[in-house]
Amino acid sequence: MTETSVLVTGACGEIGQALVQSLSKRGGYRIVTADLAPLPESIRAMSAEHAQGDLVNRVKFFYDHDFDVIFHLAASLSSKAEVASEEAHRINVEGTMQLLMMAAYRSEKYKKTVKFLFPSSIAAYGLETLKEKQEAGIVKEHEHNSPHTMYGCNKLYCEKLGMYYSKFNGQKHLDSDPPHMLDFRSIRFPGLISAFTVPSSGTSDYGPEMLHAAAQGKPYACFVREDTKISFMAMPDAIKSLLMLMDAPKKSLNHQVYNITAFAITAAEFRDRALKVFPDANITFEPNTRRQGIVDSWPEDVDDSLARSEWDWKPDYDADKFFDEYFLPEIRNRYSK
Ligand code: SER
Repeated sequence: MTETSVLVTGACGEIGQALVQSLSKRGGYRIVTADLAPLPESIRAMSAEHAQGDLVNRVKFFYDHDFDVIFHLAASLSSKAEVASEEAHRINVEGTMQLLMMAAYRSEKYKKTVKFLFPSSIAAYGLETLKEKQEAGIVKEHEHNSPHTMYGCNKLYCEKLGMYYSKFNGQKHLDSDPPHMLDFRSIRFPGLISAFTVPSSGTSDYGPEMLHAAAQGKPYACFVREDTKISFMAMPDAIKSLLMLMDAPKKSLNHQVYNITAFAITAAEFRDRALKVFPDANITFEPNTRRQGIVDSWPEDVDDSLARSEWDWKPDYDADKFFDEYFLPEIRNRYSK
């Protein structure tokens, strides 16, 4: 059986590591990885080839490969992107543009459509005020697309770039014999939480940081207010969604960008759930004005009915299941060692 050739950029990140493990477990994939950093030991053997270095400089390397699927995960996350905006633009936009151009070129030249999976984010939304956020409640993909952050602007624009390269590139769709174009598919992720890796430089990180700190008996000062509410998801569900969207037959997809959600809870609910299991946890709230502002501009929850109807999306973990059956058992195991 021929293997499906897959590129995973940002392979050392939280989604990257979990995705490489899942693809390897499924089998049938030749996985090429890319990241600024060397691969962690845990996934090294799963990668057939690792391109280490700046994506924008390494793009020539990718032209020499015949990828069927690209998961372009490399990104500078929202909190970091606010303080290093030029660097974020280079990584998030230029890096994506280079890969899209490569995938578009190869799709056309070899008449073989490359699938391009792109993680977008709830950061693509921007609610003006807390009142507007509360009134908006659950938002649909086309609503409130006015991001307040560099990261959100980058993600929203790259969604548009993906659509451009997959539909209109050079207006070639108007030719009598239109070329093969790449197949761009994107998911707007909520805050993701893994029991195995700890996030860095994102703004939804207060959820996972709080839980990992509580499990280790370390004090944690949460950088947002207790009433702060956004949606979250267990990492296994995030990986499941990427694989489901990759597998979905093109004819069933009427959109290219999909919301998904699992459970929307407040920071206070995170604390309460952590205290139930780790009663000695020392969790306080010391809001940081800028990071608070970012989360206040993100919706409380998103409407994922398009994903549910077009590719049968459904999360495995609601809040109870996430805590009881995924996070807490795994984390106890991890930190008791
Ligand atoms: N979790 C990301 C962040 O906080 C948003 O997609 O930056």
